[in-house]
Amino acid sequence: MKHLLTTKELTRDEAELILDVTEQMAEAVTGREVPKLPALRGRTVVNLFFEDSTRTRTSFETAAKRLSADVVNFAAKTSSVNKGESLRDTALTLQAMGADAVVIRHPAAGAPQRLTEWIDGAVLNAGDGTHAHPTQALLDAYTMKQRLGAVEGRTVAIVGDILHSRVARSNVWLLSKLGANVRLVGPPTLLPKDIGDWPVEVEYDLDASLKDVDAIMMLRVQRERMHAAFFPTANEYARLYGLDERRLALLPDHAIVMHPGPMNRGMEIAATVADSPRATITEQVTNGVWVRMAVLYLLLT
Ligand code: NCD
Repeated sequence: MKHLLTTKELTRDEAELILDVTEQMAEAVTGREVPKLPALRGRTVVNLFFEDSTRTRTSFETAAKRLSADVVNFAAKTSSVNKGESLRDTALTLQAMGADAVVIRHPAAGAPQRLTEWIDGAVLNAGDGTHAHPTQALLDAYTMKQRLGAVEGRTVAIVGDILHSRVARSNVWLLSKLGANVRLVGPPTLLPKDIGDWPVEVEYDLDASLKDVDAIMMLRVQRERMHAAFFPTANEYARLYGLDERRLALLPDHAIVMHPGPMNRGMEIAATVADSPRATITEQVTNGVWVRMAVLYLLLT
């Protein structure tokens, strides 16, 4: 493995190795006075973000720093991209400065793959269009493993705007590869048309799909990717597909509530549900650092 572009291309063994190393990373730094390992001392990780991000960018930065790498943050909004520089020329510039790894988020599906043609170092996909977001799926799988004991045999409902969600796509491939049953729930307008060959069940009625679920993953409605109206109103969406207290009570007692962030409280998830002990949202963020440490470590050493 030289790059991490999608979860679809990972073998089950590779995915399990990443999750095992994730656990080792968590154990190696948790509770330590200086939560840092020397593994990537002298190496440079560039964060190349062409789309907004809070968690993913800071998480990759934290992960790289905890492995003692140097981190360069490139934000497209303040770069020569605004002067018309192409992705290729941006990549060649980073290559000329000797980046050991480039973490890229880009609105175009396939941009990370293109980058591998111009960069000698490792390319890590931090989200490309609606296509893939592999480290998010890996941190979700790790969170399930921790909270539910395993991924194998567990039932996961991914709810909401599947159509525009790279998180959903990466989770479909990863979780099914690890032996989970994956159920997609959402309005027909927000389910992709090409679901035919995906290893999933599809359900339109949220209430009817809750009783046997071990983990429910709520997705944000990604209005920035919508160029048409996909549902009548926000209230109507929340009524049909929002996770509120009433629906929380329909889930088995052991079921966990996941969300990749950023949340729209009151829309796909009620504020009280997001803050309830059933929710793993902040744990997912913490686990994201361990997962990214594991991936950087495996690709760069
Ligand atoms: C997601 C993304 O950017 O794909 N956020 C994240 O990385 N945790 C989901 C979203 O934007 O809704």
